[in-house]
Order: sequence, then C-alpha cells, then structure tokens
Amino acid sequence: MTQNTDAGQGPKNANTRLDIARALTQIVGHGRTIDWVRDQRPQWLQSSLHSELLYGTLRHYLSLTDAIQKQLKRPLKTKDLDLQNLLLVGAYQLKYTAVADYAAISECVEACKGLGKPWAKGLVNGVLRTLQRGGEKKPDAETLATSDHPEWLRSLLHRQYGDRALALMEGNNRRAPMTLRINQIAIPPSTFKQRLETAKISFADGPWPETVTLLDPQVATDLPGWDQGECAVQDQAAQHAAHLIVDALLSKGPNASPVKVLDACAAPGGKLFHLREVLTQASIEHHLFALDNKATRLQELSAIATRLGHITHPHADGSPLATDSIGLICADGCAIDLPLPGNLNIILIDAPCSGSGTIRRNPDIRLLLTEEALREQQALQRQLLQNLWQRLMPGGTLVYSTCSVFSEENDQVIHSFLSSTADACVVNTSLATGNATQYGWQLLPTEPLTDGFYYCVLEKGADHHKADSP
Ligand SMILES: C[S@@+](CC[C@H](N)C(=O)[O-])C[C@H]1O[C@@H](n2cnc3c(N)ncnc32)[C@H](O)[C@@H]1O
Repeated sequence: MTQNTDAGQGPKNANTRLDIARALTQIVGHGRTIDWVRDQRPQWLQSSLHSELLYGTLRHYLSLTDAIQKQLKRPLKTKDLDLQNLLLVGAYQLKYTAVADYAAISECVEACKGLGKPWAKGLVNGVLRTLQRGGEKKPDAETLATSDHPEWLRSLLHRQYGDRALALMEGNNRRAPMTLRINQIAIPPSTFKQRLETAKISFADGPWPETVTLLDPQVATDLPGWDQGECAVQDQAAQHAAHLIVDALLSKGPNASPVKVLDACAAPGGKLFHLREVLTQASIEHHLFALDNKATRLQELSAIATRLGHITHPHADGSPLATDSIGLICADGCAIDLPLPGNLNIILIDAPCSGSGTIRRNPDIRLLLTEEALREQQALQRQLLQNLWQRLMPGGTLVYSTCSVFSEENDQVIHSFLSSTADACVVNTSLATGNATQYGWQLLPTEPLTDGFYYCVLEKGADHHKADSP
C-alpha cells in the first residue's frame, strides 16, 4: 500500500484520472511507451500522483482488468477502451493507494465527461462502488505476480527459470530503488556523500565508491549538485559495464596509450559517461568513441554530457580524437563503412533489447513486448556483434550486455556468434550477485538492488572456440 494521500495535486481543474486513462489508452491501444507519453504528452504526467497512478495501474493492468471484468454484465466494446482504462485507474486507487475512496470514485465518474462519454457515469460509479464494498480483496503477492504477467511471458520465464520464475515475477512487481552514480571527475564520492547527509537524504553505500542507493527515491533534479553534474541516476546492474572494462584493461598490464574504446550503442550515455569517469579515475589514457544510430538519442546524450561536464563532438571522418573528448558517431553499427579507427582495444555493445530485466521500472514492457519482437532483437544483436568484431584488435576485449533476462538475447546470441567466429574466446566473468550462465553472467531483479542484466566478456585471440548449445 502506498502512502500517497494526494487526491488533488497538479494544476487546478485538471482531472488526473482522465489524463491517466488517456495515457493508458495510448499505451495499451496504440502500442506507445511510457517514454512516448512523457515526450509527447508531458501534461499527462505532471505530478507525483500522475506517475503513481500510471505506473501502478500498468504494473497491475492484467489483474485489475480481470477484477473489473467480473463486475461488468457484458464486456465493454473495443471503442470504449478509454472507459475500461478509467475503471482500472479507479480500481488501482481503491486497492493500492491511500487516496480517499470517495475522491477516487467521484473523480473517475467526473472524468467520463472528459472522455466524451457522460452516459457512462452510472456504470463507472456502480462498478467502482461494488469494488469498494468488496473491501480489501488484494490477492497475495504470488498470485498477483503471476496474474500480472501475460501468458506467453509466464511460460517463457518458467521454461528458462523453472522454480525461480515466480520470484522473478515478484521482483518485476516491486518498485525499483533509486541508485546514483557519483561523477568522480566532478566531486570526490566522500564529499558528495557528505552533501547527501547534510540534505538529510539517507542512502546505502554500493559496491563501488561512486555508487549509492537512496533509501527513499527523490526527484533527481532536486538532488544536491545535480545542476553541477555531480551525480547521475544509474542502476547498480548497469554500473558493472565500466568496471568490467577497466578490469579487463588493467589485467592486461600497461597498454600502448591511449587505448581506443568504442561504446557501440551509446545513447543516452549512462555507461559511456561512467566509463569515462572510471577510466579517468584509473589514469588510463583513452580515446572514446560513442556510436548510436538515432540522432535524437545522441542529442539527448550530448545534453547529459554537458550537465556532467563531459566534452563531446561529432566525429564523422575517422580522424584522431583529443583524449579529453568523446567522438560522437551517428551510424548503424551493422554498417561496414563506419568512420572508426581499426584496431580498437575495447568495444562495449550494450545491445538494443527487450528490456525484460527492467520491467519493474518500465511496467509497460510486460504489456507491449511480444515473442516476435524478441526474435527481431536477436537478429540485430547478432549482426552488431559480427560487424563490430572486425574492428577489434587482436588481444582486444568486447563486452556484450543487455538489460534482458532471456537467453534468446544473451547466451543464444553469443552461442551463434562463437559458432561462426574462430578467433573469439569467452573470458570467465564472476560478479558479486547473480549467476553464471554458459557464456556470461546473469543478474536478476530478484536481487532488490539490481535490474535484470546480462554480461559476456569476449577476447579476440587465435584460438578456435567450439560452442555447445546453451
Ligand atoms: C540499451 S540502449 C543503450 C543504453 C546506453 N548504453 C546507456 O547506458 O545509456 C541501446 C541503444 O542502441 C541503439 N541502437 C539500436 N540499433 C542500433 C544500431 N543498428 N546501431 C547503433 N545503435 C543502435 C539505440 O538507439 C539505443 O540508444
């Protein structure tokens, strides 16, 4: 149960329930994402109550739909999806929030007018009042976790994780923690932590000096030093990428400086900036290239770089870089003629993927993802690996990562790559939490502090590698 008692936050006269019913209709009816809503209809997500209602209703969309349908004499027509979504927002408030029942119900009834369906006022009132009278009928966490995932997703998780699938679905239903990465170039971590203490923001230390998890999530832009670029929000699981890379470089002894590093799927730059901060901290001289095929996402990356004090510039011709700046390349990572130097020491492929490891942060994924989309991602992931491998120097390291829990996007991609790449060797990876897989390491959201994430470290050598089926 959340403690959000705010029944009227947001601009005067706005009907929050109406906004959220519309946002849900865009997501469920038109396949839009929460990010689309945030970009295109920011007015629909303008208060903490808006976010609470949108994320919460999406998290429990399937079980709430079931509860609502039981109260309807006949199913609503497809054209009344907006009405159904309004009922779900009402039901979510009654079951999961401390919003006063009368406020939740009357605002939903009122919102019928905004949907252009004043005829539905009686229906909305009746269904929500019946649910209210039904009292506290919230199913237990296990039943909820199962009924809040679509059938195909449940079976895939059961096939891959057996007994652990339930814990994984429960993890997906939990709220994600807010973890920060302190920008060590801008401020020593100990000084930033003192600032948090002064601001009375409680936190737990993470596995690295620059990592802290806040005990209560905050509005990021209100954090101390935010405007000065002293910190960024980044899940703990994602912070392994930079450390795996720096560990790989250090394990090889002194490199011919500067090392050439490519972040091949870089935007919006979370791992890129962390990498630069950790390389700088370890005094490893480097040339850093950031590639992404979407110009708008690279613009977003540049804006974040400016806040964090990282220098970026477009890099279109393969010319040498200054060691204090990041070269930005807008191109398809599957293209042959990339404007990149050959013989890169390090490549990070943080591949586009289903995001299935981040369902607790992005509850729309469970409703939008399809098995077909998984197969499409897999094909792209393979191509990126195969193409970019050509750019790696002998002895160089490639880190492949996804925020996916599915072997389809993880070990199976590596398996197929190894089967056709004679000079690729798997480097054993072992992290503090999670599990070894056949070729890499899987982090799961069953650990409260990490999203689901996969890492595989590959080295270019002369050995022929035989891959057994994952
Ligand atoms: C998982 S996100 C990367 C997140 C980023 N590494 C970070 O830590 O902030 C994957 C990125 O790959 C990019 N992408 C998708 N297809 C691509 C392709 N064919 N070539 C290059 N980048 C691609 C997407 O635009 C997206 O920004």
